[in-house]
Amino acid sequence: MDGSARIIEDAIARNRTLPGALLPVLHAIQDALGFIPPDAVPRVAHALNLSQAEVHGVITFYHDFRSSPPGRHVLKLCRAEACQAMGSEALAARLTQRLGIDWRQTSPDGALTIEPVYCLGNCALSPAVMLDGKLRGRVTADVLDGIVDACRGERNAGGQRAVQDHRDGEDRS
Ligand code: FES
Repeated sequence: MDGSARIIEDAIARNRTLPGALLPVLHAIQDALGFIPPDAVPRVAHALNLSQAEVHGVITFYHDFRSSPPGRHVLKLCRAEACQAMGSEALAARLTQRLGIDWRQTSPDGALTIEPVYCLGNCALSPAVMLDGKLRGRVTADVLDGIVDACRGERNAGGQRAVQDHRDGEDRS
């Protein structure tokens, strides 16, 4: 059994007795691997006595689940009402244009996966983004550009530090 199969089996073993076990199992797999590999579907289906179609249906229904590995960084941009009112759509257009990719895709250099979200609970400080699980509020076009540059340039000297600085900007301001 390879490493990822072991992780999948472990996620199943830890969560299979929970009520509504499918979601906790899938979340545990994604938390550990960053995505739900295709070979997880038959394993999960078998363990929970579900059809593969049912498992696949849940993975595709909930946008939080990924079926392919994310980039080195995941940037979520809020497109819900409060953030929209504060300019998030312009940020969204800037982001997709700059990277030349669509939502839920990864930049060709593998640096950044971009995902839309619909409220990060940071509405008072909108527009908001989340970089690798860390919130940033009152994001301007310049801040967004800085985040993208830091993620893409991290292999250059100082780049890792720049990404960390952006994560540390979590003070939500
Ligand atoms: S609407 Fe964007 S954080 Fe709530």
